[in-house]
Formats: sequence, C-alpha cells, structure tokens
Amino acid sequence: MARVYNFNAGPAALPLPVLEKAQAEMVDYPGNGMSVMEMSHRSKGFAEIIEAAEANLRKLMGISDDYAVLFLQGGASLQFAMIPMNLRRPGKSADYVNTGSWASKAIKEAKVTGAVNVVWDGKAENFMRAPKESDLNLSPDAEYAHICSNETIGGIRYPVFPKTKAPLIADMSSEIMSRVIDVNQFGMIYAGAQKNIGPSGLALVIIRKDLIERCPEDVHVFLRYKTHSEEKSLYNTPNTWGIYIVKLITEWMESLGGVAAMQKINEAKAAALYNLLDSSNFWRTPTDRESRSIMNVVWRLPSEELEEQFVNEAKKANFVGLKGHRSVGGIRASIYNAVPKEAIDALIAFMKDFEAKNG
Ligand SMILES: Cc1ncc(COP(=O)(O)O)c(C=O)c1O
Repeated sequence: MARVYNFNAGPAALPLPVLEKAQAEMVDYPGNGMSVMEMSHRSKGFAEIIEAAEANLRKLMGISDDYAVLFLQGGASLQFAMIPMNLRRPGKSADYVNTGSWASKAIKEAKVTGAVNVVWDGKAENFMRAPKESDLNLSPDAEYAHICSNETIGGIRYPVFPKTKAPLIADMSSEIMSRVIDVNQFGMIYAGAQKNIGPSGLALVIIRKDLIERCPEDVHVFLRYKTHSEEKSLYNTPNTWGIYIVKLITEWMESLGGVAAMQKINEAKAAALYNLLDSSNFWRTPTDRESRSIMNVVWRLPSEELEEQFVNEAKKANFVGLKGHRSVGGIRASIYNAVPKEAIDALIAFMKDFEAKNG
C-alpha cells in the first residue's frame, strides 16, 4: 500500500528519508553486525549513537553547557509529575498557566503533591488564545512557572514567551524544533518525542544544571533528574531505538538547514492552510489569529454532519488523522516538521473541491 498523507497528532508522520535510512540499517547497523535494537545500551556502538543525538540537539537548538540534555521514558506525561517532585521544594508553590487540555493535565499532576498557583486561566474564553506576559498574575516566590508552549488539541501557541522571574518551564511536545527559540530563556524544556523528533516512549528533557540540584531527598531515585543526569541517561535501559531515531531526525533537520530553515517551511505550510480557511465562511477557525499554532491547525465546518462527511471523504482520498480530538470535535491537521508541503497542497486542493460540492 502506498503511503498516505499523514496528519496524525502523535505518533505522527516521520521524514521518509529517516524511515528509509532506518530500514537500510535495520538488521545491520554499520560496523556492529546487529540491529540497533539488539545492541547493548552500554556498547561503544550505542555510545556513539546517544552522543551524536545529544550533540546534534545541542547544535540545532543552541543548547549551552549550562543545560543537561536527558532522554527519559514515561513520555511527556511523566514530566508533569517529575517537575513538581524535583523542582518545587517542600512548603513552596509553583505558577502554572492554563491554556488548555495539556496545561490542565500538568496542573492536575502538580496539585497531587503540593501547592499550585494558576496565574492565568483561558477556560472562560474557551482556550482560544495564549496569554500575554501582562495577563499573568505571577507570584514573587514561585519555584518555577510552567507553560504548555503549543496546545496540541486546542491548536494555539505562544507567539512570544513570557519573561518570568522564576525559571520558566515549557512543555514543547508538539512544537519542539519547529521554530527558533532561545533556550536560555527557560529553566527547562521538555517534549514527548512522538511529534517532531522521534517515536513515542521517549521524552527529551533540557534542564538547567543548577535546577537539577534542587531535588528533595524523599524523591525516588529513578524519578530524580540528578540520577539521569549523572548517568547520562543510562541509569537503566533507555529507549535505545527511540534515541537512534532522534539521531537520524536531527541529521535530517541539519541537512535541510537547521531549525531556522524548518521554521520557514513550517510557516509557509501553515500560512497556505490558514489562507484557505480564512478565504470563506464555509470554514471557521475558532482560535485567536495571533495565537494560532503552526503545528496543529484546527477548524470547523458549518455542521457536525459535514465535519463527519469531510473526515470520511478525506480518508477515502488518502488523508489520515484529520478528525479533531474527541474532547473538542471539529477538524485538526497536525502539520509537524515531517509533513511535506506537498501533503498540505494536496489537502488544500481536496478542501477546495469539498467546499465547491458542499458549500
Ligand atoms: C502538549 C503535550 N503535552 C504532553 C503530551 C503527553 O505526551 P505523552 O503521551 O508522551 O505522555 C502530549 C501528547 O500528545 C502533548 O501534545
């Protein structure tokens, strides 16, 4: 079967050249006589892979030696728990911004073990925008301030990140390496890999080294950033295959010109789709223009019946993953780094045709 146009939210499309390279090296990783999946995580061969993955990330994102780069398990969801455990000391509180489904999950998890101060809540506005810095009711003594930089379900992102006195922590799962950011503005950045940088089951954590030292004594050894930092992500057996794919994807990004080049491509892809959505009343984008995500584009049709028809006809035409998240309905196209412009162009042509027949 031919490959489809994949607009899945995550796990999501991976670059075809990366898949082909992984296929070519599947049974015999050069010089090792075995698959990466069969290699010891303590072997020289794997050491080269994890070191290259980290070096590529550091180069592409401009990550300085002040930060540790960790490859952890448990997805981004485990980070929702590890962050307050490690970085909010006993008796203290942390600031959280609520921009939608994923920020809410982080807040829920942080509340389990201590005090949370929700410094801005977009619920009353139906989560249609990210706040401005001036909207935030930040506390002077917060241990950190947490944001979700791109809400995968709601389809919004921060056009500009707030400057906070407390270390800023960002869940960048659905936009990591899609646009140029200044890592130094953050205390910590984390992301589940399965959208822009690899397969699921792997979380990337970029954390300022001084914050690693904060961890209270009563946190389980495995759940401490310190443990994974000291052991260079090899405290236990990591997701070796996932780390290998991160290496291949970062090589692929480098070959395209790095994150700045990715951003340009992504902005062009998103603009093409939003231009069509803005061109008639048949389509409606519920998100605030300034906060629109360039990774997860959400929209509505005149009725739920038409939305269902749209998704079904799209599927028949080889467009997969367009149904909006079950919690919000509507349509969503996730157009991560690996989704080629041709896929967007094909989708736009399909949408024009659909509108002409049903508008
Ligand atoms: C913004 C965001 N944060 C966190 C998660 C959870 O990631 P994981 O499934 O890796 O735990 C997701 C998953 O879709 C996400 O989109």
